[in-house]
Amino acid sequence: MATMTESIPTTVQVHLGDRSYAIQVRHDVASSVWADVLPKALRGQQALIVCDANTQSWAEAWYDIIAPFAPRQKMIVLPAGEAEKHLGTVARLYDDLADLPADRHTYVIAIGGGVLGDTAGFAAATYARGLPWIMVPTTLLAMVDSSVGGKVGVNHPKGKNLIGAFHQPAAVWIATSALTSLPDREFRSGLAEVVKYGVIMDAHLFEMLEAESLNLHNPRHPRWVEIIARCCRLKADVVEQDERETKGLRLILNYGHTFAHAFESVAGYGTWLHGEAVALGMLCASRLSERRGLVVPAVAERQRELLVKFGLPVQADARWNVDDVLLAMRTDKKARGGRLRFIVPRRLGEVEVVDDVQDTEVAAVLREVGCHG
Ligand SMILES: NC(=O)c1ccc[n+]([C@@H]2O[C@H](COP(=O)([O-])OP(=O)(O)OC[C@H]3O[C@@H](n4cnc5c(N)ncnc54)[C@H](O)[C@@H]3O)[C@@H](O)[C@H]2O)c1
Ligand SMILES: [Zn+2]
Repeated sequence: MATMTESIPTTVQVHLGDRSYAIQVRHDVASSVWADVLPKALRGQQALIVCDANTQSWAEAWYDIIAPFAPRQKMIVLPAGEAEKHLGTVARLYDDLADLPADRHTYVIAIGGGVLGDTAGFAAATYARGLPWIMVPTTLLAMVDSSVGGKVGVNHPKGKNLIGAFHQPAAVWIATSALTSLPDREFRSGLAEVVKYGVIMDAHLFEMLEAESLNLHNPRHPRWVEIIARCCRLKADVVEQDERETKGLRLILNYGHTFAHAFESVAGYGTWLHGEAVALGMLCASRLSERRGLVVPAVAERQRELLVKFGLPVQADARWNVDDVLLAMRTDKKARGGRLRFIVPRRLGEVEVVDDVQDTEVAAVLREVGCHG
């Protein structure tokens, strides 16, 4: 078995013409580990490092190893949390960039989770018609999901991520050691998105997760570098074919999410973490597939077992009413201006989109996982 020091650094190339970039996945934040990347990436330009209160110590470590290659750097520490993902925070970053002063070659380096990355990335997308930016994700969700694809943005009182842009980063630097300080619940929440990739695109990944499930509770395990790189590759495969979500291919990444968004809303935002809602949502989507005879029952059962091993919920809050969940789904659908669509598995590694599902079918699935009414 590999030891803690044997994780192999991995590069994932995202091919998007002149917006192409590399995602580097390594374990530590140390100058020896990043010596081949930093000089080429920053080319002596100035940099604005943006982090939040919980990622500041990681940002300081990056600041130190970046210093020789970006002699003029400044670090901004934002308050943490989804509530800070709004235009006011972006305006504050514009002020910081103007104070530098930033020029068109100044790098914004976002060190944090999806909230921080989406917010700082949006400031980079819009300041001076677009600055280069580097995403340094520090949550598992950000490493496998939000750092790939170039979607940046902030929330509006009328809806999540209503204000945004596509702005591909110049690079993504993933040091998996950041996961060691992540609260356990946030870490497990990210695991749900990892399981998602296995079900929608990669049966081998799913089998690897099953085989290694006990080891993967440990964020220091060397397999993490490989698993995160594999998830980035899978998301990059989708993004390369459908960069701006015009062809519907990116839809498969929403596996479990029609249910999950409704669960997050019915529970009261922030009560269930996104990944927790996705875990139960994926199970519901599988049960729906099973009811329609599209998939053998073993697929839902294997998912359920894996999610349980990862400490993720597979049972609804018994206080949730079926009609309330259905209403939340319809409201979310309206907000998105589309039909109620579900991504359902055909077999491990393959999904399809269904949009002719009756409320009675959804209600039956919701009752199966413990909703009442
Ligand atoms: N752009 C995209 O494609 C995309 C995709 C999925 C999700 N998102 C967005 O991502 C956001 C969720 O991201 P998230 O789950 O990373 O949440 P988050 O950014 O809020 O991070 C979760 C918490 O962990 C803290 N934290 C981050 N890294 C840490 C570390 N290494 N050690 C200790 N604490 C740490 C953060 O400060 C925060 O309190 C949502 O706003 C969502 O809309 C974007
Ligand atoms: Zn998600």
